[in-house]
Amino acid sequence: MTNIILLGPPGAGKGTQARKLVDERNMVQLSTGDMLREAMASGTEMGQKVAGVMSRGELVTDEIVIGLIEEKMASTSGNGFIFDGFPRTLPQADALGALLAKTGQTLDAVIEMRVDDEALVKRITGRFTCGNCGEVYHDETKPTKVAGTCDVCGSHDMKRRADDNEDSLKTRLMEYYKKTSPLIGYYYHAGALSTVDGLAEIDEVAGQIDTILDAVSK
Ligand code: AP5
Ligand code: MG
Repeated sequence: MTNIILLGPPGAGKGTQARKLVDERNMVQLSTGDMLREAMASGTEMGQKVAGVMSRGELVTDEIVIGLIEEKMASTSGNGFIFDGFPRTLPQADALGALLAKTGQTLDAVIEMRVDDEALVKRITGRFTCGNCGEVYHDETKPTKVAGTCDVCGSHDMKRRADDNEDSLKTRLMEYYKKTSPLIGYYYHAGALSTVDGLAEIDEVAGQIDTILDAVSK
């Protein structure tokens, strides 16, 4: 069991790489963004509460996301967790440490995915995903083989996110630099931090992550 965090700004490629690790290593992806979007889609009270905050690109409260993570950690199992988009604040990082300790688990690597802002804007504004299986695509760098049809499941239900526009992205980036980037120092001092070049091609980034995982896997 190997537990890792994928840490990086919006569009760094966290979701793309997490899906590969699920397929290749049977790990479990815990994306708080996906969990919140599911809550919105199913119209729960919490989903309605966070919809505006998310579409503006602001962070939802620590209490909500810590609750979601705690619930999923207790109800899912596999060959380790990939924390994707969590933690995003120092209190969330402390809460994750406590949750892992409580269940006798360790945090084995924190992988920082470094990408510059200019590339992030291009990635976010060109992104679309399959509404059925969640495969992530991009208009230029990862189009579907047949226009409008998912390569993985054949669905025609392609979706774009409400917060994938330049205005919300500006807020998301500011939130990242103000509240999430301090976690880089936090995990560096904990001796857990590794960095990959998130600007490289998708398969090359995956190779860099594999090398880190092979070194820490138990
Ligand atoms: P969340 O869903 O986590 O969004 P995010 O962090 O903004 O990250 P993204 O999902 O946009 O990017 P990604 O890194 O997964 O990139 P992807 O692989 O898709 O959070 C959304 C919102 O929910 C937040 O703003 C907040 O409101 C709330 N929230 C979530 N978690 C929270 C928390 N813990 N606390 C508080 N609030 C929280 O790739 C992007 C695009 O680039 C794709 O098109 C892909 O094909 C392409 N691409 C990927 N890799 C490459 C590559 N190497 N080269 C070229 N293109 C690439
Ligand atoms: Mg994502």
